[in-house]
Amino acid sequence: MKITKINIKKEKPDFSKLGFGKYFTDHMLVTDYANGKWSELQIVPYDRFSVAPCMASLHYGQGIFEGLKAYKTDNGTTTLFRPLDNLERMNRSAQRLCMPQIDVKIVSDGIKELLKIDEDWIPSLPGTSLYIRPTMIATEEVLGVHPSKSYKFFVILSPVGSYYANGLAPTKILVEQEYVRAPIGGTGATKCMGNYAASLLAGEKANRKGYDQALWLDVDHKYVEEVGAMNIFFVIDGIVKTPALVGSILPGITRDSVLKLLKKNGIPAEETRILISEVYDAYRAGTLTEAFGSGTAAVISPVGVLGYRGEDLIINKNKIGPISKQLYDELTGIQYARIKDEFGWVQYLK
Ligand SMILES: Cc1ncc(COP(=O)(O)O)c(C=O)c1O
Repeated sequence: MKITKINIKKEKPDFSKLGFGKYFTDHMLVTDYANGKWSELQIVPYDRFSVAPCMASLHYGQGIFEGLKAYKTDNGTTTLFRPLDNLERMNRSAQRLCMPQIDVKIVSDGIKELLKIDEDWIPSLPGTSLYIRPTMIATEEVLGVHPSKSYKFFVILSPVGSYYANGLAPTKILVEQEYVRAPIGGTGATKCMGNYAASLLAGEKANRKGYDQALWLDVDHKYVEEVGAMNIFFVIDGIVKTPALVGSILPGITRDSVLKLLKKNGIPAEETRILISEVYDAYRAGTLTEAFGSGTAAVISPVGVLGYRGEDLIINKNKIGPISKQLYDELTGIQYARIKDEFGWVQYLK
């Protein structure tokens, strides 16, 4: 790996006021793909790219990314949560978008080297972490709809604040009844850039109506899918239910971790198709006791209000439920190495 270090370090932001995705560290990881192979990984100063206006990804959206985090533990070590799962998911996204595979081992080693160089950027205040954004874009300089022959892969790092300014607070979510995110057979199960562009309008609509995010339904507006950047869970009749991976939703790594923790804790859980009418009926019958989202950014995000057909369903009195709280504490406990990791999810930066 070639490493070019920055000469003068950038001034760090106030780590108590980070927000999300606003600041970037001193270095980044880059490699280019041409003639059927990737070049040697390089760590270079974080800087702008110069790109051609005709570059393929700017026109046809051939671009994918990932999102994972590094955490500073109480004793000063750095952990990564399930990094290989993110890179393997990136390869599945790449396959769907006709983009080249990355070598998961080489790239994860590269990310660890990058983290070591920029380790002083990993914030240590409660709830803060370093967000890691691997990205791949098509770089061929020609117009025309076909898979690009060249690509750039890069990893940038951003210190991020606690998702919850005032602790683990419930969110307000609007069931989206007009737009759809992804059909089965589409790109919904990948982290391709276009999925996020296509989701913006529903997000804006939800915000305008006073909700934090939209809850997507399937193409027939019958089955529950997922939230903007989170998978969704409902606790109905004491069973934790989450939509099955039918091909239109992202297989979240937090979702998978939640299912494994529920199993370990002996809490009944099901991956199944969930009708939105079933959620509504359970609410009316008083058997919908909790709802929460899962994702890298927020870990666990309790849903306090679900807007459905002009009605606000208030779940668990708009308070954090016991299962959401337990999962949040366990997951963050494992990520920050405060509790034992029985699953082999955590990797340490040595
Ligand atoms: C559309 C979507 N669904 C779900 C998730 C949650 O996935 P993960 O738990 O891997 O962060 C994300 C975030 O990556 C997402 O963008």
